[in-house]
Amino acid sequence: MLRKAIALAALGLALVAGQAAAASGHPEEPKQPAWSFEGPMGKFDKAQLQRGYKVYREVCAACHAMHLVSFRNLGQKGGPFYDAEFRNPNDNPYVKALAADIQVPDIDSETGDTIQRAATPADRFPSPFANEAAARGSNGGALPPDLSVIAKARTGGPDYLYSLLSGYHTPPAGLEVPPGQFYNPYMPGDLTAFWKGKGHAPAGGFIAMPPPLADGKVTFDDGAKSTVDQQAKDVAAFLYWAAEPKMEERKEFGLGAMIYLLLFSIILWFSYRKIWKNVGH
Ligand code: HEC
Repeated sequence: MLRKAIALAALGLALVAGQAAAASGHPEEPKQPAWSFEGPMGKFDKAQLQRGYKVYREVCAACHAMHLVSFRNLGQKGGPFYDAEFRNPNDNPYVKALAADIQVPDIDSETGDTIQRAATPADRFPSPFANEAAARGSNGGALPPDLSVIAKARTGGPDYLYSLLSGYHTPPAGLEVPPGQFYNPYMPGDLTAFWKGKGHAPAGGFIAMPPPLADGKVTFDDGAKSTVDQQAKDVAAFLYWAAEPKMEERKEFGLGAMIYLLLFSIILWFSYRKIWKNVGH
């Protein structure tokens, strides 16, 4: 009897939990493209990182800063513009030119006035807005987050970023989209209150970021076709590199360490056999 009651209670709880989960509206599972940097031997695709930087610079940088990334990081080993001839990325002429294209705020050392000057490799990716209030003011009250480590800060990492950026589509009929918001099936959220259609509210949520990408928006120098899908994939890979710039070194070291440990275990096994050879046990 008691057992039956417990089982029933558990069933009831499971049902309630299940309903709560459905009501809170799961976002859609992110798409999972094959990334070159997956797996224990994965490496960044340099051409992809270069395209991704272009997408960030020409599209995303209009709203998002990356304060933890300096221009010189672009020329570091494993980075998009690494050149073995310039081991010190501060000397890399390409990196210098990329930096010089961007204006950063500074103080005039003689007059103390705030000025804008061309960036150097030592500067960080600046914010397009003077402060948080200005950023919110330009974005209908929403704050575009810093993208330095966003690939690590969001569940799903690059898969999520790629899916979010390429996943905007017209909202399903019956969904009331508030002004200044956009429907995205990959954005976590709860659409129940906005759903006037039949059945469950659709998966996904609202985001205050207008769809940033469009076919042909960025011209890729390497001839890759500039589709929304390609731009989203490349910028997601770039953001993953930015959040994990030492990934290649880490993986190389990890593999070396595993080989070392394996060899060491073999030697240890044979020395154990030798030392205990004449001892009965
Ligand atoms: C017109 C300004 C604008 C542009 C351009 C823009 N964003 Fe955003 N972005 C925003 C705003 C505003 C938010 C905050 C949205 C919110 O809080 O609902 C945001 C949020 C985000 C988020 C966080 C989503 C989450 O899970 O919370 C990511 C990731 C992002 N943007 C990436 C990008 C990338 C990559 C690009 C370039 C391809 C880009 N954005 C271009 C304004 C912009």
